[in-house]
Parts: sequence; structure tokens; C-alpha cells
Amino acid sequence: MEKLVFATHNKNKLEEIRNILKDWDVVGLREIGCETDIIEDADDLEGNAKIKANYVTDNYHLNCFADDTGLEVEALNGAPGVYSARYAGEGCSYHDNVVKLLKAMKGITNRKARFRTVIALNLNGEQHLFEGIVNGRILEEEHGNGGFGYDPIFQPDGFDDTFAEMPMETKNQISHRGRAVAKLAEFLNFLTDKS
Ligand code: IMP
Repeated sequence: MEKLVFATHNKNKLEEIRNILKDWDVVGLREIGCETDIIEDADDLEGNAKIKANYVTDNYHLNCFADDTGLEVEALNGAPGVYSARYAGEGCSYHDNVVKLLKAMKGITNRKARFRTVIALNLNGEQHLFEGIVNGRILEEEHGNGGFGYDPIFQPDGFDDTFAEMPMETKNQISHRGRAVAKLAEFLNFLTDKS
């Protein structure tokens, strides 16, 4: 099996991807001896995904992919976007971010928002980008205890539940990350089917 690095330290993300890319030997940063916290200082999701994938390819000469996700709120001109993880400041909690967003949205009637994930794949000297989007709206208060991040205030279009209220399998089927990963898997599985 061909080795493919997923530029993450997150064990859950790694496990999830391994179950989808069964024909590839997917390894995380720790497994290639990379303990570095790669600085993600690009001003868009594409840039950050590329920074992480390129870091591994440049320093370890291995095929690699990396992801970056943001919540883009229409009435806030796409914020928090690329700053979703640290919207309420460096070292803030998921809940701090939710509280800040609810405050910023107070009195705003246009609640439209979307989650967007970008995956950058460096494979045999070529770079490929994959995008997954889920449209929805920001509620006025938190609902549900599941998930993480902005899940308690994000209700995907066509559903009465927030991401935090639905079973994980349902979320994974329709989510930004689920959709981006499905495109990556389709591309990689197509390559392995051909060989
Ligand atoms: P990352 O690029 O996957 O690390 O995501 C960046 C930030 O976006 C996270 O720290 C969360 O605040 C938010 N985020 C990413 N994915 C989700 C999700 O599925 N639900 C809620 N928030 C998310």
C-alpha cells in the first residue's frame, strides 16, 4: 500500500479518514516524526491547507494532504472564516467562539451561513484541491450537546436539528468535511482502481 500523510495531530480525524481510504497507508504527522505545530497564517482556507501539505512534502518528501475549515457568515462578510478556531482570541474555547458569534449576530435577520472545508493534496509532484460546503443558518441560541465548535448554533438547510442535535453519522454524511473527504476519496480510489 502506498503511504499518504494526513497533516494532522488529531487522532479522531485520522481514524475517520483511515476508514474511508482503505487502500492507502494513511499516517499522521506524529507517525512521520513531525511534532511541529505548523503555522497556519494564510488569509484563506486554501492557503492554510496548502501551507500544511507543502510543509510535509518539502521537509519529508512524502505525498500528503491537509484540510482547513471555516464557518462563513453572510451578514458578517464571511467572518469568522479562516479565523474560526480563534475568533474570540488566541487560546479561546469553542464556547467562547459561540458566545462571540451570537453577540455579533444580535439583531441581524439574515442568518445565512455555511461551513466550508478545503483539502489540499500533494501527490507525486502535483497539487489538487477539493472543497466541501454545507449551507445553513445561525440560530439565536444554542441547541444540543453533541459535536464540537459551532455545532450548537448551526442548523443545516433542510433539517430541524442543529449539528449538535443530530447523530454523528448524519452530520458526517452532509457536512462540509464529509463532502470534501468524499471528493478526495473518489479521486484517490479512482487512482488505485486504475493501478
Ligand atoms: P479545522 O480546520 O478543522 O481545525 O477547523 C477550524 C475551526 O472551525 C474549528 O476550531 C472549529 O471552531 C470550526 N469547525 C470546523 N469544523 C467544524 C464542525 O464540523 N462543526 C463546528 N465547528 C467546526
